[in-house]
Amino acid sequence: MTTAATNPHRAKKLFIKTWGCQMNVYDSGRMADILAPLGYAMADSPEEADMVILNTCHIREKATEKVFSDLGRLRPLKEAKTGDEPMIVAVAGCVAQAEGEEIAHRAPWVDMVFGPQTYHQLPEMVARAHRQAGRPLVNTDFPVESKFDHLPAEASESNGVQGASAFLSVQEGCDKFCTFCVVPYTRGAEYSRDVAGILAEARRLVGFGAREITLLGQNVNAFHGDGPDGSAWGLGRLIRALAEIDGLDRIRYTTSHPRDVDDELVAAHRDVPQLMPFLHLPVQSGSDRILTAMNRKHDAEAYRRIVDRLRAARPDLALSSDFIVGFPGETDRDFADTLRLVTEIGFAQAYSFKYSARPGTPAAALEDQLPEAVKDERLQALQQLLWAQQAAFNQDMAGKVVPVLLDRPGRRPGQLHGRSPWMQSVHLDAPARLLGTIQPVRITEAKPLSLTGTVMPAAAEEAA
Ligand code: 5AD
Ligand code: SF4
Repeated sequence: MTTAATNPHRAKKLFIKTWGCQMNVYDSGRMADILAPLGYAMADSPEEADMVILNTCHIREKATEKVFSDLGRLRPLKEAKTGDEPMIVAVAGCVAQAEGEEIAHRAPWVDMVFGPQTYHQLPEMVARAHRQAGRPLVNTDFPVESKFDHLPAEASESNGVQGASAFLSVQEGCDKFCTFCVVPYTRGAEYSRDVAGILAEARRLVGFGAREITLLGQNVNAFHGDGPDGSAWGLGRLIRALAEIDGLDRIRYTTSHPRDVDDELVAAHRDVPQLMPFLHLPVQSGSDRILTAMNRKHDAEAYRRIVDRLRAARPDLALSSDFIVGFPGETDRDFADTLRLVTEIGFAQAYSFKYSARPGTPAAALEDQLPEAVKDERLQALQQLLWAQQAAFNQDMAGKVVPVLLDRPGRRPGQLHGRSPWMQSVHLDAPARLLGTIQPVRITEAKPLSLTGTVMPAAAEEAA
């Protein structure tokens, strides 16, 4: 009989908590894939886990402090854990990358700290973590080899497939160096995967039941992966190739930069019906002065022109954006320019944040940092406008019939959740057998944050 101590592949449990962007969600899935062959199955809570990974986000201040408070809660769990092997606690992601030494100092009982570019080395790290005592193993290199060449080819179902919708990471890192942003430091230089690997992963995801794939990258439309013909492909060309995969009905991409919207990408919006008419295209501010200080490399007028080109190509395109209020030196006038841009463009959805000074970024060193109260006030005013636009956009759907991808069970039995082409959540009563299909749905009620609808009778009868 093999005992737990001598069998390295005994059933063990892994709990991963994920903060931040979809890229982190994707990374967490891949970490689970890498650890599965070592015997780790997913746990529902940290209490029952043999290994806990906190996959962290460093984009704004609060996220970092939340990591430390989570670590504080994990410590007694780890200490209480009895058995032949101690619990492994790991911090991954961008806080790990940026503050590896700080974590090692403040939480020396943590076993491993590793950044977003080294998690393919998890098996070696786990082996070493068991031997390491008194200090975490800190692995925040930017290795020369790409993790994508070392991740398991046969990904398990955990690899981003959540119901009918999956994430696929195609590009990582950023060379733009916006002055407020930590990403170029935590995720490293811009890197694109090669096209063949992406297409193979997309086919696998569709094989697992994905009907929709969201291509991920910190700067996804800067994608320039090696194509099978040896030339570099842009995102537009990649999207055309993906659209040829049978069973892949919806394609999205996020997050994009206005500067990298090229003609090929605009043409893809015009020609590829699978490319959904919803685009997250962050502008951050409507003031040219602030855009320059942010090093965004475009002005407000350039953004308006890009949106015009995209809307000419795909008239039903809806837009989403990120905004930062209270960037150092932002005046009332600058902020008014932002409100004006929002009013002119009209956003279906948006995220807005108070500027948060991140250590090591150029903007953190600027002198004219704004008081919290000013930031609060501006955030409120901006959000009010954006919420009104979102509510109006949703209201416009009332009474219409829209194709909805039924991607997961709803809150109550007999209910399903779905997504419209414009990313709106749609709640409806429908049989579970319709999960993973796209159905024509009449929108019966439009609320500010979601829609309610009914599957059109023909489709419902066919399925019955
Ligand atoms: N402060 C506030 N918001 C930030 N973002 C990035 N860095 C900061 C910061 N230092 C926002 C930007 C970005 C989004 C992912 O997070 O709007 O687009
Ligand atoms: Fe950060 Fe700017 Fe790069 Fe986006 S484009 S990841 S905001 S540096």
